[in-house]
Amino acid sequence: VTKPVPVVAIDGPSASGKGTVAARVAEALGYHCLDSGSLYRLVALAGIRGGLSFDDEAGLAAIAATLPARFADGRVFLAGEDVTDAIRSEEASGGASKVAALPAVRSALLDRQRDYRHAPGLVAEGRDMGSVIFPDAGTKIFLTATAEARAERRYKQLIEKGMAANMKSLLKDLQDRDARDAARTVAPLQKLPDAALLDTTEMDVEQAVGFVLDRVRS
Ligand code: DC
Repeated sequence: VTKPVPVVAIDGPSASGKGTVAARVAEALGYHCLDSGSLYRLVALAGIRGGLSFDDEAGLAAIAATLPARFADGRVFLAGEDVTDAIRSEEASGGASKVAALPAVRSALLDRQRDYRHAPGLVAEGRDMGSVIFPDAGTKIFLTATAEARAERRYKQLIEKGMAANMKSLLKDLQDRDARDAARTVAPLQKLPDAALLDTTEMDVEQAVGFVLDRVRS
């Protein structure tokens, strides 16, 4: 009997630091890493560029089904173009949470996400990694922090990049996106009973990575 390839599923809200923690955990374990949110961001960006409306479910699902996405060296490419920064814009971020609410888009991305499961293992981060995509994951983590702490982290990131940022509007955007991600009927963000709660409000990245590695190894 061959053992299934191990999966570490990390789910949580926007700007919780999941991406950073997942990448570090994958590096420490020598596992592959899936940033599932970037797929929704890519669908949103491709939709915006194609002039589609965010309620054009069939059109966006067609984009999702044939998404010419490539990930290499920490960069994200859409049809060969480096869109690493473009998918993080406020427009693409807001769009991602809208396209992510469309069932046909989610199902068009199902197999693509499961295809990342290769030996020796996978760290997958998103909203429904433990619930829908990899329900048999051996480790499930719900990684969160207060909305204020998350807004503050994003604020610092933007200022460091020399970009304009407004704390009040960042907090409002995060809360709106949280509400949309949690209230939708398909694959809402939720803490599963079998997931370990990791609240990073008072933690740094090293501590959060340590917590996940302890769970994987125990
Ligand atoms: O994790 P992120 O902020 O990059 O995700 C972008 C959007 O995609 C966010 O609004 C939630 C959605 N998403 C999702 O619905 N399911 C996932 N597995 C990952 C992200």
